[in-house]
Amino acid sequence: MNVLIADKFDNAGVEQLKAMGCKVTLNADLSGDSLREAVKANEARVLVVRSTRVPDDVLGAGASLELVVRAGAGTDTIDKSAAKERNIRVCNCPGKNSVAVAELTMGLMLSLDRRIVDNAVDLRNGVWNKKEYAKARGLKGTTLGIVGLGRIGYELAKRAKSFDMDLIYCDVVDQNALEQELGIKKVPFEQILTDSDFISVHVPGGEGTKHLIGADELAKMKSSAFIINCARGGVIDHEALASAIKAGRVGGAGLDVYENEPGSADTAFNDPIVQCSRVYGTHHIGASTQEAQSAVGEEVVRIIGEKMKGNEPPNCVNA
Ligand code: MLT
Repeated sequence: MNVLIADKFDNAGVEQLKAMGCKVTLNADLSGDSLREAVKANEARVLVVRSTRVPDDVLGAGASLELVVRAGAGTDTIDKSAAKERNIRVCNCPGKNSVAVAELTMGLMLSLDRRIVDNAVDLRNGVWNKKEYAKARGLKGTTLGIVGLGRIGYELAKRAKSFDMDLIYCDVVDQNALEQELGIKKVPFEQILTDSDFISVHVPGGEGTKHLIGADELAKMKSSAFIINCARGGVIDHEALASAIKAGRVGGAGLDVYENEPGSADTAFNDPIVQCSRVYGTHHIGASTQEAQSAVGEEVVRIIGEKMKGNEPPNCVNA
């Protein structure tokens, strides 16, 4: 089976696929035209991607494509309905990188509270400023509002609980068992905004959640509150967020995702929000730990393995 991997991918996973008899081509720099050409030239039956976009013209580039595997959870970068029309399955790897994303979220919360980045930058510039940086509030006893208590929200809640934070969440479904296990309370979205000291969003991207948090929602937040987005760019309106932070209406933000993220081959980036003080931006690295990437790699291998056995591939999101 010809497998084209158009993103960075775990080495052990590549070796396993080869051992299973797959012909694997890995090129993390493919996108747009070059991806289309590679799908065709390699007669790829399986395409594996992370953040690389897979629009309809890529899906239709060769006659042989049968399966697109997203080496991660979010599938908003793949045209799933076009794939369905072409009878191409799209599968993902839910839950395999949840711990990694929750860990980054905790890191951003701690960094914002202690201003770790600014501390480090001042020291690098030869400035000792203990007075300025001795004003943190600490996480213990503060309220964390989680928007979306799915797999990542759950892993975050577990970790925040061990920091003695008070936990609230909102979700389209009731998570009664998790409420018992974590001591987390379901509240309306509005109350997440008004009561939280930290808000972290863990919802899928796409039209349904676009600018879920915009100017009106930001206006309801405590002026000292921090907001974190390690989910998808677009869930928070960055223009509105930048104005709210500059005006002192929101305490700050930790952002791992952006509306127009460059592909893996590009290096230029200019979302103005990352220039704001009290905004700590990272490069969509939530899922990028070795632990998460080997778990994701194993799941990709399992999906392709089932397909090779002639079974329906697991975790199909467009059947
Ligand atoms: C995901 O959707 O799981 C992450 O965005 C994955 C990634 O960064 O590759």
